[in-house]
Amino acid sequence: MEKDKELIEAFTRQADFYDWDRYQNLQKPSNIRLKQLVERDLDRYLIGRSVFEIAAGTGYWGRYLMDKGYRYRGVEITPAFVDKAHEKGVLTERLGDARSLDSYPREVDNIICIKAFSFIKDPVNVLSHCDKSLRKGGRLLIWYYNKDFHILNFLLKLKGTSIPKLTPLELRHSQKEMRQMLNHEGFRILELQDYINFSYRFIPKFLRNNKVVHWMDDHLKYGWITFVAAEKA
Ligand SMILES: C[S@@+](CC[C@H](N)C(=O)[O-])C[C@H]1O[C@@H](n2cnc3c(N)ncnc32)[C@H](O)[C@@H]1O
Repeated sequence: MEKDKELIEAFTRQADFYDWDRYQNLQKPSNIRLKQLVERDLDRYLIGRSVFEIAAGTGYWGRYLMDKGYRYRGVEITPAFVDKAHEKGVLTERLGDARSLDSYPREVDNIICIKAFSFIKDPVNVLSHCDKSLRKGGRLLIWYYNKDFHILNFLLKLKGTSIPKLTPLELRHSQKEMRQMLNHEGFRILELQDYINFSYRFIPKFLRNNKVVHWMDDHLKYGWITFVAAEKA
């Protein structure tokens, strides 16, 4: 964990604010919409009864899934985030590293990873652990920051935060790269789509291609996220 010192320190500084800002602050249309999209896709793709979450954060989704009746386990590398999860009663979220196979359960029905894949250094290793951990036919659901995220990083840099260093471009994946990685591990892809705001479709194509629009409107924020659902063959 030594090499993640900077990442852990940055998230520890945000611990009090994080959960509120991402999930409770419903002033932001992008927060509401993203929650709706994640809930919709969890509903569509989760099977069986057990869910394991990689980089489980402050336990927001753990609480949500436990309330829905799932047997839930999570792993998270930032101790302050694990404390936040325990405050929510999500005691099955444990401190650990998603790059270690020891962190994973056996024969789990579903593995999820929400807005965290691009923070974990060594994504190929993580996908291989997922393959070993899932039961045959089990589902892997990942919501990840796609390459457009570099614009957000640029803006954050102007504001002087340390996040840009935590998410280097090589850890953000295009659809093609994600498809290749999953195919390489033998997963069958069920769905792979960018989360695009409805209004985004009406913006002229040349602007969309520039990606300039992404930071013009808070509504568009979740356009940085790509969702993939895959199945262990
Ligand atoms: C943007 S946060 C997302 C957290 C949560 N999934 C959510 O939706 O709120 C990224 C998370 O990845 C965690 N993380 C980064 N590297 C990790 C690793 N190797 N193992 C476990 N968690 C890790 C960070 O501590 C942080 O909580």
